[in-house]
Amino acid sequence: MAKKTITQVDVAGKRVLVRVDFNVPLDDDGQITDDRRIEMALPTIQSVLERGGSLILMSHLGRPAGEGYDPLYSLAPVAARLGELIEAPVTLASDTIGEDARQKAASLAPGEVLLLENLRFHPGEKAGDAEFSGQLAGMADVYCNNAFGTCHRTDASMLGVPEAMGQKPRVVGSLVSREIQYLGDVLNSPRRPFVAILGGAKVSDKISVIQNLLGICDQVLIGGAMAYTFSLAQGGQLGNSLVEPDKVELATELLRQGGDKLVLPVDTHCGDDFSGDCNKQVVEAGQIPEGYEGLDIGPRTADQYAEILSTAATVVWNGPMGVFEMPPFDEGTRRVAEAIANSEATSIIGGGDSAAAIEQLGFADRVSHVSTGGGASLAMLEGRSFAAVDVLDDV
Ligand code: 3PG
Ligand code: MG
Repeated sequence: MAKKTITQVDVAGKRVLVRVDFNVPLDDDGQITDDRRIEMALPTIQSVLERGGSLILMSHLGRPAGEGYDPLYSLAPVAARLGELIEAPVTLASDTIGEDARQKAASLAPGEVLLLENLRFHPGEKAGDAEFSGQLAGMADVYCNNAFGTCHRTDASMLGVPEAMGQKPRVVGSLVSREIQYLGDVLNSPRRPFVAILGGAKVSDKISVIQNLLGICDQVLIGGAMAYTFSLAQGGQLGNSLVEPDKVELATELLRQGGDKLVLPVDTHCGDDFSGDCNKQVVEAGQIPEGYEGLDIGPRTADQYAEILSTAATVVWNGPMGVFEMPPFDEGTRRVAEAIANSEATSIIGGGDSAAAIEQLGFADRVSHVSTGGGASLAMLEGRSFAAVDVLDDV
């Protein structure tokens, strides 16, 4: 059933507690290197402010120890960036349910924004602690989940807090609703042909995704180092390539299950060292010489995958085809991204590395949807549902 959204709640004069996923990448100087998760949360933030509500925003950042404040994981850079984007002051509390947060929350006026410090500074967040959840819920009149990237977690702010809201509204924000609409609708009723393209280092990370998508898609194209474990299962020579010998049996089973639907690379771009200026060769798949390792799909595979993608009506992509951060081994990923950008298909880019790749290559505005969730979008591709969303009010 569809979930009630924040736009369906009267927020005038109300305190709205919004769980956002502002877990953004920071460089060594603490500068935000990609603020997409903040930008994508703005429509919900602005909608509440414009309608006369006040905002208590809460997020985690990274994986601090849960033993109190840690400057390395402070949300201070996020508060500053958000303030720039909404062109309004954003107050940062120095804690989550402590004196400072409670005072600042209580004195919020309509149109004002408070960001609580990193939820994971408090041990109650990861523990799903009821006392911690109750304190957060007690600060507000409305709860809104706009943290798609964290929807696969059952941390206190995701599950315990909406549970503790009692009769008060618990809704989704526009980011969560858009993500679920794209990923959910496509998987439930895709236009065909429906092609998935999966990359990344390990088969073990994507087993459930491959299994689920083999049941729904017309074709599942495989790239990345994960292809080498499949190749090993077929008796290939892999040289020094990254393989998972303990997953060969599983790969064999997936090959059997997938039949013609599961498409593997026909050639491999390999090198004699993990560096951009190593000696390179393009070889047939499964014929990687001693001393060499596979670092990207080869050009014939890229042609073949681009051809298949050009005829698809729906495309889902998750995971790079090679060592995309190390040219020239970015070529396979670039070719695939270009083919997806050029196609007329409804195209969905799973978060994490493939979202970063499509952004970096400049094709992000030529696909239908780039997810803000890494683990969360994989969970959706696995066909899982989220307790953190199920708990929210239905329309
Ligand atoms: C993510 O980036 O994957 C989300 O913000 C969730 O973070 P987590 O994997 O540390 O729970
Ligand atoms: Mg994660």
